[in-house]
Amino acid sequence: MTTKIINFNIKGDTRGSLIACEQDHNIPFDIKRVYYIFDTKENVVRGKHAHKKLEQILICVSGSCEIKTEESGQTKTYLLDSPTQGLYIGGLVWREMFNFSKNAVLLVLASDYYDETDYIRDHQNFLELN
Ligand code: TYD
Repeated sequence: MTTKIINFNIKGDTRGSLIACEQDHNIPFDIKRVYYIFDTKENVVRGKHAHKKLEQILICVSGSCEIKTEESGQTKTYLLDSPTQGLYIGGLVWREMFNFSKNAVLLVLASDYYDETDYIRDHQNFLELN
């Protein structure tokens, strides 16, 4: 399986909640990069690419968004609307992010540095490889 939801344990007390993401504990890869997407305009679709090797976990730490994934001819749509859940995506998976709420912040943990040569941005090319 190359996409799956990870439920994080909440360290909660009377003050509120905290979640820790730790390499090899609840994150199944070495975290080399963290980036976040925010201030996304209405009706925007982001992503529209696959990666050859990169593994990622997407966490909507504020607000909500949807992620459509496609692999081996199967599409799935995930609603990310809680900071307690992450979507793991590894392997050759086409992904599109859409329906961002106004306050959405999508945090992404990645297994490697930004490398344009790891991207497949052409959907036809993706279908040929998948
Ligand atoms: P892009 O791949 O279009 O984002 P998305 O997949 O969310 O639609 O990236 C937007 C710009 O940011 C593009 O110029 C590449 C750059 N970028 C980096 O410099 N470092 C990164 O880690 C990422 C993810 C993107």
